[in-house]
Amino acid sequence: MSERTLAIIKPDAVKNNAIGDIIASYEKSGLTPVAMRMMQFSKATAEGFYSVHKARQFFDSLCTFMSSGPVVVLVLQGDNAIKTNRELMGATDPAKAAAGTIRKAHGANIEFNAVHGSDSPETAQFEIAYFFPLMEIAG
Ligand code: RTP
Ligand code: MG
Repeated sequence: MSERTLAIIKPDAVKNNAIGDIIASYEKSGLTPVAMRMMQFSKATAEGFYSVHKARQFFDSLCTFMSSGPVVVLVLQGDNAIKTNRELMGATDPAKAAAGTIRKAHGANIEFNAVHGSDSPETAQFEIAYFFPLMEIAG
């Protein structure tokens, strides 16, 4: 079933000049970008995006990291896009990520882990709407 997911190329990966490599990985996995923007989050934008994690001990440092430099935010479309992208990303901790995953290739540690991906249809809907009005999504 074709569906959409939200992906973020995080500040660490943008600083490492990995944007092109990561987008190529999406395309090779059948995930087609249908919307894309490069931007810098304010701390408040990061806090709103990750509000499900606000009780976690890593919340403040996560939001500081996510607002530390430019990111690329994409809507990816394809068959089972949410699961396909989570598999392509690999485990949250790059040390535990499988060979061939984005986090294995580009993540440094559990916090600086190169990419974000929606984890369910409900979060995908919230996250896509957070960054993209419907008219900005192709098709
Ligand atoms: P994401 O939301 O970014 O796609 O990552 P995820 O689902 O694999 O992991 P999640 O549990 O949702 O955590 C969100 C992000 O918070 C940072 N984190 N730091 N210091 C820590 O123990 C810790 N745990 C998580 C990571 O940047 C993680 O991607
Ligand atoms: Mg998550």
